[in-house]
Amino acid sequence: MDRNLALEVVRVTEAAALSAARLMGRGECDAADQAAVTAMRHAFESVAVRGMVVIGEGERDEAPMLYIGEKVGAGDVKDPEVDIAVDPLEGTNLCAYGRPNALSVIAISERGKMLHAPDIYMAKIAVGPAAKGVINLDKSPTENLIAIADAKGVYVEDLTAVILERERHMDLINEVRKAGARVHLISDGDVSAAISTCIDSSGIDVLFGIGGAPEGVLAAAALRCVGGDMQARLIMRNNKERDRCYAMGIEDPDRKWHFEELAKGDVMFAATGVTTGDILKGVRYFRGGARTHSLVMRSKSGTIRFVETEHHFDRKPQFGF
Ligand code: FBP
Repeated sequence: MDRNLALEVVRVTEAAALSAARLMGRGECDAADQAAVTAMRHAFESVAVRGMVVIGEGERDEAPMLYIGEKVGAGDVKDPEVDIAVDPLEGTNLCAYGRPNALSVIAISERGKMLHAPDIYMAKIAVGPAAKGVINLDKSPTENLIAIADAKGVYVEDLTAVILERERHMDLINEVRKAGARVHLISDGDVSAAISTCIDSSGIDVLFGIGGAPEGVLAAAALRCVGGDMQARLIMRNNKERDRCYAMGIEDPDRKWHFEELAKGDVMFAATGVTTGDILKGVRYFRGGARTHSLVMRSKSGTIRFVETEHHFDRKPQFGF
């Protein structure tokens, strides 16, 4: 994949973020999501790839745009065939209620290298580079905390674990508290939380818990670029969800996945902040335009770029406005 593609792709997350951010705090989840989806789909029309959506807004019959299997991009035969995972608005509630860490996100891999994860749950543990190689999803949270503290040369009490605040996580939260670690509960947005384990200034050391499987693949792509570590396992609540895994080509849905298996080969990742959070600033409007803040990364080079863009709507009108 051409390295310049990463900078093309950031235009797509910027477009989605600019559209969604217009609806920040209005309490309209569906409208914010739809604005991001429509702008992202439109922006893809000028990206020179032959892309296929492998993680998107749902199956073809339930999503009119960015559905799984949809071909996107303006590429011709000389352009690469790629798999595309999108979450035009990761943290719909975060945007709709003006809370931190809403993002627009895209990951791109060579064709056939990303897990086609159904929209079910996934158990995850993610850490930054300093604790790479010491985590194990099959061990208890306490054992993992001790291993992470050892790897980082700190006490368990010095660690901060980020966990989605959900009823299903009550035992997990209690165990982490009992082990002595600090707990940062979030209402939504575990892609941003996974990435924050790799950003020293975030103060986050580990992500524990169950979130969306599509978000797990996006987080895996990001952690491939930034050098962290992650393990995951699909959670099937019934046979219908198990059958969806088989239908999407997953032969052993109960297996544990290492993040390098969720997003293999050469991977690119781009995210633009919708609301200001641990990693990115949200969209800020000024007279006649807006500023966006994005992150663009490639697994091959490990380069992490923060892109601050000034958009002038009089010269380049934004989609939908
Ligand atoms: P959406 O943007 O699709 O609303 O997802 C937000 C999110 O918090 C994800 O970050 C997380 O993986 C998932 O929802 C958790 O699902 P649930 O809200 O069902 O616990």
